[in-house]
Amino acid sequence: MIEKDIERIYFSKEEIQKRVQELGAEISRDYADKDPILVGVLKGCFVFMADLTRCIDAYAEIDFMAVSTYGNGTTTTGAVNIRKDLSYDIENRHVIIIEDILDSGVTLSYLRNYLMNRKPASIKICTLLDKPARRKADISADYVGFECPNEFIVGYGLDYAEKYRNLDYIGVLKPEIYQ
Ligand code: IMP
Ligand code: MG
Repeated sequence: MIEKDIERIYFSKEEIQKRVQELGAEISRDYADKDPILVGVLKGCFVFMADLTRCIDAYAEIDFMAVSTYGNGTTTTGAVNIRKDLSYDIENRHVIIIEDILDSGVTLSYLRNYLMNRKPASIKICTLLDKPARRKADISADYVGFECPNEFIVGYGLDYAEKYRNLDYIGVLKPEIYQ
């Protein structure tokens, strides 16, 4: 049903699953003796986070933050709002922030500074998608699933006006949907 709104598939379910397993293996190696806290940035992270954490073989803890940057459209307002903070203290802990997409970088650079004030042992960033063409803030991810083109994409957690998060692949919507 919702498939009819998709113009093109960018990353198929199979490609995503394969890449997520690779990222999980990499993080498992890097954090084998570090017991990391994985901090998911809601809501976009929820599908990626669920798949990624099950590919990580380490004593990882899971927490979430909720922030808002976007309105109901496709462009950022620039303002970052913390809607839900962490449940636990991260002092002296190894934190990995899990994001769906690194776009302008405004959200993650704000979040990284915000969490840095709590004196974690380290902070790294893992993003499923990286859209470097649109970067405004001075930030890059330590783990990247895919670099993606400068187009607005949906699926696998990513929304347009809160919809399409439940697609199991990533694609572009037909132009008429954005009206
Ligand atoms: P940034 O602060 O510009 O890096 O924006 C990050 C947030 O914007 C992401 O966590 C997404 O929720 C949203 N976003 C950026 N690009 C896209 C896109 O192509 N599709 C869906 N959401 C996007
Ligand atoms: Mg969003």
